[in-house]
Amino acid sequence: MDLRSTYRSIVVLTGAGISAESGIQTFRASDGLWEAHKIDEVATPEGFKKDPALVQRFYNSRRQQLLGSDISENAAHVALAKLEATHTGSFTLVTQNIDDLHERAGSQSLVHMHGELLKSRCTSCCTVADCVKDLSVEDHCDHCGTQGSLRPHIVWFGEMPFEMDRIQQALMQCDLFISIGTSGNVYPAAGFAQQAAHAGAHTLQLNLEASNTPGSFNQSFFGPATELVPEVVDKLIRQSEV
Ligand code: APR
Repeated sequence: MDLRSTYRSIVVLTGAGISAESGIQTFRASDGLWEAHKIDEVATPEGFKKDPALVQRFYNSRRQQLLGSDISENAAHVALAKLEATHTGSFTLVTQNIDDLHERAGSQSLVHMHGELLKSRCTSCCTVADCVKDLSVEDHCDHCGTQGSLRPHIVWFGEMPFEMDRIQQALMQCDLFISIGTSGNVYPAAGFAQQAAHAGAHTLQLNLEASNTPGSFNQSFFGPATELVPEVVDKLIRQSEV
């Protein structure tokens, strides 16, 4: 693995692949189902409107799984937190994941562009609150008191991802872009590598297999995130010490 020159401004994009070895299933299994559900049923505003109880049960089960004692951050999450802690320039970690494994590893400059499983949002007053318990259609919002207004603070298909201005700014300024564990099927994240390349960044892909991301990466490495990410991070840190 050959990485030349040192970098001033780094943007990392992560997807479900980085959490796979922590025991959290990725989205795009070959049968097109997510934990036995059609994505339309559980990850769209229309699905929520049609059957809110089903959607709440689905995310309750994801939340319980995430909070289980067998789920923890892995070596790839830890390596990214180490890179951030040692990098002297700017560093932005953008994740499509709704788990909190980057936080558990110690990442600070983190954007959850698709939201967070451990937060709820009131559709009436827009209050976002921490959420480690099951949500139900009977719940009241603690802030405005409305009943049945709480939903997972998650970006579903057809909704606008969070903090796009901050992400765009980081992409325009970065000189190293690293994509980790994402299939490149979902926009706008799938377009970030191309945007970073247009801005002059060196682009790197670390994934189990080639992603569908448009345009080519300058370098691609294929294998499990827990092996590739620590390896790349060590190289970047050693270079910056030269
Ligand atoms: N190490 C590295 N990569 C892996 C590993 C691993 N151990 N396991 C799986 N992968 C790769 C797969 O090869 C695949 O390319 O991770 C990618 C996961 O792809 P998806 O399941 O499509 O997940 P992601 O790209 O994060 O999905 C994007 O789609 O469903 C929506 O909002 C949801 O944030 C999600 C978005």
